[in-house]
Amino acid sequence: MQFSAKVSDISKQRAACSIISVDAKNGLSPSGKNLDQLAGGVIGKILKRGDLGAKPGSTQLIDLLDGPSERVLVVRTGKGDISQAEFRKLASASAAVAKKFKEATSYLCELEVKGADKTWQAQQIALATGLACYRFTQFLTDAKPYPLAKFTLHATDRKQLKAIQKGMDIGAGQALGSNVARELGDLPSNVCTPSYLAAEARALAKKHAKLTTTVLDEKKMQALGMGALLSVAKGSDQPPALIAMNYKGGKTSEKPIVLVGKGITFDSGGISIKPGQAMDEMKYDMGGAASVFGVMNALLELQPSINVVGLVAAAENMPSGRASKPGDIVKSMSGKTIEILNTDAEGRLVLCDALTYAGKYKPRAVIDIATLTGACVIALGHHASGLYANNEELAQDLLKAGEKSGDRAWQMPLWDEYQPALDSNFADMQNIGGRDAGSVTAACFLSRFTEEYTWAHMDIAGSAWKSGACKGATGRPVPLLVEYLLGK
Ligand code: BES
Ligand code: MN
Ligand code: ZN
Repeated sequence: MQFSAKVSDISKQRAACSIISVDAKNGLSPSGKNLDQLAGGVIGKILKRGDLGAKPGSTQLIDLLDGPSERVLVVRTGKGDISQAEFRKLASASAAVAKKFKEATSYLCELEVKGADKTWQAQQIALATGLACYRFTQFLTDAKPYPLAKFTLHATDRKQLKAIQKGMDIGAGQALGSNVARELGDLPSNVCTPSYLAAEARALAKKHAKLTTTVLDEKKMQALGMGALLSVAKGSDQPPALIAMNYKGGKTSEKPIVLVGKGITFDSGGISIKPGQAMDEMKYDMGGAASVFGVMNALLELQPSINVVGLVAAAENMPSGRASKPGDIVKSMSGKTIEILNTDAEGRLVLCDALTYAGKYKPRAVIDIATLTGACVIALGHHASGLYANNEELAQDLLKAGEKSGDRAWQMPLWDEYQPALDSNFADMQNIGGRDAGSVTAACFLSRFTEEYTWAHMDIAGSAWKSGACKGATGRPVPLLVEYLLGK
């Protein structure tokens, strides 16, 4: 999709669809009034009939047939000040309609939003529009992608144009990155294997000078002593891969921020096999890895002057005669030994070795992203990602990035009191705590491998995909991560 911003006049701007707003107190937005006048008051007359819903975010499409705008899409706003949450609603509600046309122009930046500037508004519109146009069509015989190919944001003057352009670029980058993550997530596990992810990473490096990719195979992982990661992979016929994508936008001397993604391309549970109900959704157990790919793609688009390494710990968790069994003990790259009491707690096993490996980059900060625990879904549901950190400044930065982008996280405790749940009689630790605080004890497990650097962990088990009729990857937390990185 082509996004652009323009100082334009609605009475002269040709458009297949113009997006304007109306509120109960002031009526149509300035450009809306303008267009209405040009159309002989027909918009006002049609709205008077009362078909437009009363709730903010309700939309009505009005055909104008001829005139500069073929159609006008009217979005209802609330009566008082417009909050950021409400503006997001308007942006996605209008995108859901506009995506059906080849081309659209939005005048929603004319609205004033509480505590937000034009850059933020443009960012939210571009993000919502980019996300709305995603459709997973690879395996559908008849489905076509949405036609929207050109989306224009209206600015009232040159100064506003600059601000809008800036926000639009960021939002478009966030949407692009999110949609890359969604595409990888929605792919079935018979296509999206660890080797597939490795090939994707190599292809990305081939296309972009600022990115290099290296892939550690089983043999190299063995040489490094990654017994935890390898123990997960060994039950599967698919070989694992530890993928490193190195984005160099900053000075060579500048320490990188390292992202680490859980890339279990299918989580059957292994010998501690999962029940059949919704097991297909465990193709999404590489959502953390997908978000790392999404962020790398967004960085390549936006080209910020920073260094970022994206690590992906990719493996498939399967039961077989070669699989780990409950009670098995493995040695991690850190030297610490782990008693595997449940083979379904495999994410932390692949992550702990990847996190130890991350130390070799002398990172400024490390953020891991993982669909780690069902317990996190019980705690937070699907609206917030769970956030843990051993550094309060990093935690606050990530929380703020979530608020700003609308891709929110909620901080959870990483208190020492939770650590003894991981005590084992036979090894340095066991890979599960008890029934209580499952998301916290999983984070505690990871914290034992990240003591040497500034670290945060995001449990995205509830936010990475949707179940039910709208089943599909969300691309989260790519907007949050991109927001955070652009602020560095
Ligand atoms: N990938 C799952 C977590 C998961 C489950 C995410 C359901 C989203 C929905 C993870 O590998 C897992 O199986 N975790 C176990 C941990 C338990 C064995 C301590 C869980 O959450 O049940
Ligand atoms: Mn599991
Ligand atoms: Zn898993």
